[in-house]
Amino acid sequence: MCGIVGYIGDKKAYPVLIKGLSRLEYRGYDSAGIALMSNEEDLRVYKRQGKVQDLVDFVDGMDIEGNVGIGHTRWATHGLPNDVNAHPHFSGDGDIVLVHNGIIENYDIIKKELIKRGHVFKSETDTEVLVHLIEDIKNNSTVSLEEAVRIALNEVHGAYAIVALSKHEPNKIIAAKKSSPLVIGMGEDEYYLASDATPIVEYTKNVVYLEDEQIAIIDRNNGLRIISISNKEVSPYVQELEMQLEELEKGGYDHFMLKEIYEQPRAIHDSFRGRLNAQEGWISLGGIRDFEERIAEANRIIIIACGTSWHAGLVGEYYIEDLARIPVEVEYASEFRYRNPIIRPNDVVIAISQSGETADTLAALKMAKEKGATLLGIVNVVGSTISRVTDAGSYTHAGPEIGVASTKAFTTQVTLMAMLAMMLAKKRKTVTEERFNTLLNEMEALPSKIEKLLESNDYIRGIAEIYKDAQNALYLGRGSSFPIALEGALKLKEISYIHAEGYPAAEMKHGPIALIDENMPVFVIATKGENYEKVVSNIQEVKARKGKLVAIVTQGDVTVKNIADHYIEIPDTDEMIVPILATIPWQLISYHIAVMRECNVDQPRNLAKSVTVE
Ligand code: AGP
Repeated sequence: MCGIVGYIGDKKAYPVLIKGLSRLEYRGYDSAGIALMSNEEDLRVYKRQGKVQDLVDFVDGMDIEGNVGIGHTRWATHGLPNDVNAHPHFSGDGDIVLVHNGIIENYDIIKKELIKRGHVFKSETDTEVLVHLIEDIKNNSTVSLEEAVRIALNEVHGAYAIVALSKHEPNKIIAAKKSSPLVIGMGEDEYYLASDATPIVEYTKNVVYLEDEQIAIIDRNNGLRIISISNKEVSPYVQELEMQLEELEKGGYDHFMLKEIYEQPRAIHDSFRGRLNAQEGWISLGGIRDFEERIAEANRIIIIACGTSWHAGLVGEYYIEDLARIPVEVEYASEFRYRNPIIRPNDVVIAISQSGETADTLAALKMAKEKGATLLGIVNVVGSTISRVTDAGSYTHAGPEIGVASTKAFTTQVTLMAMLAMMLAKKRKTVTEERFNTLLNEMEALPSKIEKLLESNDYIRGIAEIYKDAQNALYLGRGSSFPIALEGALKLKEISYIHAEGYPAAEMKHGPIALIDENMPVFVIATKGENYEKVVSNIQEVKARKGKLVAIVTQGDVTVKNIADHYIEIPDTDEMIVPILATIPWQLISYHIAVMRECNVDQPRNLAKSVTVE
């Protein structure tokens, strides 16, 4: 996810753009850039790796005049975070400049065609391909900038919110969107553009939310015009903003954590977009394609991670061993790096990390490298250290995760684990065609099932209310849902400061059952599956000791509903996919309890988003 801004009017554009980018930095902060124009031919672009402040330091003393401009703060999806890949991007002839938030899925094919036609590219980004395509169309058919944009957008697949300028037309800004957001602020003879309303609301409350496949042509002399990419005129629908600025940064949610919980359908969709196709029956993880053989032949896979990412690794162990029949070990990176482990050259080490900067994970990875293992990364932040130390890997594409408590990063990590296990199983022929296709379909159905599950948020808040004053809590799960018990306990601990433990359900009778009484809420995953009956007897053991029970059950379950004090239904799915769905209720339970206990949900005490110290 990136942040884009634009301005055209009587003000100096520079301060408007910079302040706007600062408000959008929560959307991405790998690099930042602006383009400014005072008049025809005078198009200046400044862009740098790093945060907006790094850009401000860079342009200090330079020509920042101009009353029209565009800006961008990047969350890298294609190409490392560096100066060259930073936006804005130029067309080959330097006439057009463009910023983009989204993913052009067919950029590779278009790039190859444009190279054949003599285009030379400087960056690794999909965005540069788009601006060259617009240039190619404009120059070969001498159409207007807006017409060239319209034709180009009919050729690309994927998501985009773009703002473009031409150095020959200093009084015009072109914008367009599909799947990525874009808002136009209507001032007095001036216009503001941004990925959301936060950079706009201090100047004007009158906004137009561009709809999918619409193009806005903003001309200082003729005002705002909107057309569809099929060239139909659209009358702008001007709305009045009611939200306060603070709320807007969180997209209307009270906290980034809740926003990120609700982003999970999109994040999971983005994590498998272009990598999984149920209709055609394939999974392809491009980032590790060259190592597929190597991993499939590994004697052992060692997964190293910390915290929530370690829980994702545990789920991965169940997946890979069950489906692909490759031995897996999951290690706390902080322990692994110091216990002088045996690592053989035929081992494959997978590091899972949202930030890609966790010191313990990085150190363990470097040790494994020295011992000759093949290294893979499952990372969220593009270009992060771990993603550069590993031999190969796949990004989770969850987008920036601001809340310290990991939510969408975790469920996308588990999604990547599932895809990796399925891909390896297919290659090793350890999974039947039928099961493979069932799993593909269930994976593709995940985003909509999570959307459905999120509709229970108010109901779940009601359950949280009952347990918000608990001093302790026990989380139970079996099989691949056991790591979700650990994750649920960690979520509760780290944001509400209630002590909680996760346990395999069957282990409870080996000790923790001594803790059970009417003051100890027990959160259990009791969905339909191989061990269902066993979990039901574990639940009976809790009830026999007056324990309070909150159970996650499969939609339509009857048995557990009649035993538990409270239950949360999740849509039916393959047992292997349950861990991803079952995580959501535990995220919401911990979120609401933390809010009711007036804890700092997004920045819990003592914690940091990325633990780059040992
Ligand atoms: C999870 O909610 C925590 N924020 C923490 O456990 C985190 O998962 C851990 O520090 C690992 O971080 P990483 O994924 O960035 O490596």
